[in-house]
Amino acid sequence: MSGRVIVAGSLNMDLIAEAPSLPRAGETVMGTAFHTLPGGKGLNQAVAAARLGSAVSMIGCVGRDAFGARLLEVLRTDAVDASGVRQTADAPTGIAQIVVSQGENCIVVVPGANMKLTDDDGASIAIASSDVVVAQLETPMAVTERLFARAGDATTILNAAPAASVPDSLLALTDLLVVNETELATLSGATLHDDSALADIVTAARSLQRSCKAVIVTLGRRGAVLVDGDRPPHAIDGHAVTAIDSTGAGDCFVGAYAAALATKRPGSPLAFANAAAALAVTKRGAAPSMPRRAEVEALMRA
Ligand code: RIB
Repeated sequence: MSGRVIVAGSLNMDLIAEAPSLPRAGETVMGTAFHTLPGGKGLNQAVAAARLGSAVSMIGCVGRDAFGARLLEVLRTDAVDASGVRQTADAPTGIAQIVVSQGENCIVVVPGANMKLTDDDGASIAIASSDVVVAQLETPMAVTERLFARAGDATTILNAAPAASVPDSLLALTDLLVVNETELATLSGATLHDDSALADIVTAARSLQRSCKAVIVTLGRRGAVLVDGDRPPHAIDGHAVTAIDSTGAGDCFVGAYAAALATKRPGSPLAFANAAAALAVTKRGAAPSMPRRAEVEALMRA
């Protein structure tokens, strides 16, 4: 194992109902199954990067409760260094209320302890000697910004999810921004939807390059596109897989990209992350659906 990844971010317990359709406003839908599974964008990305071959340390905050204890156990089971995850008595562990239907989902996150993250958390972790530092938007942005400012030569990856506006001061410290179409629309002000033309997506991504160096837009089953410097956009097709649950697929992409960079895996990190994310949608849940390196390599060879 080589290459160090630090993931600063959220840890949630995902409370997942499966249903034949996603409920509309005011509608009650009869569900078919219920699962309590580990999640949170930060934890998902940390587990993905660890399963894909890098040494991972996580910085985060959970409640002093049963969900918090369980999430710490999940990190340890996947060999993620959890010494930077604090348990607080001041808030409950974050939860995500998720409805999954026909491979699609909708999610409400109640962040709880995630928002108690401070600059002191992870103080014992050598940030600047890591290879990649990853964060998302389910923990305080000001803490992420100060963490990125201490990243030294490490590559900083900001997954601007869930969709929110991000201050230029944070984008300026970001080497690689990873967003989906909705998040890109929020950040760029462009009008985009699931089947927007690639040219429109690239134009919107380029508009963010004045703030950060490179932008990846994940496009679900359509794949992903990287916009980096003046180079032509690098678009890659999605893999045809049977979607069971898309929850955490974006997190898998980010964790896999970080692992590929940190471990200096030969070949395109974009292709590796794209294949890993495709595998993640073939299994139920977020963290439990993160694939192993051999599975990803096999899909890429297929
Ligand atoms: O990206 C999926 C994740 O978003 C879920 O695991 C949920 O906890 C929310 O953070």
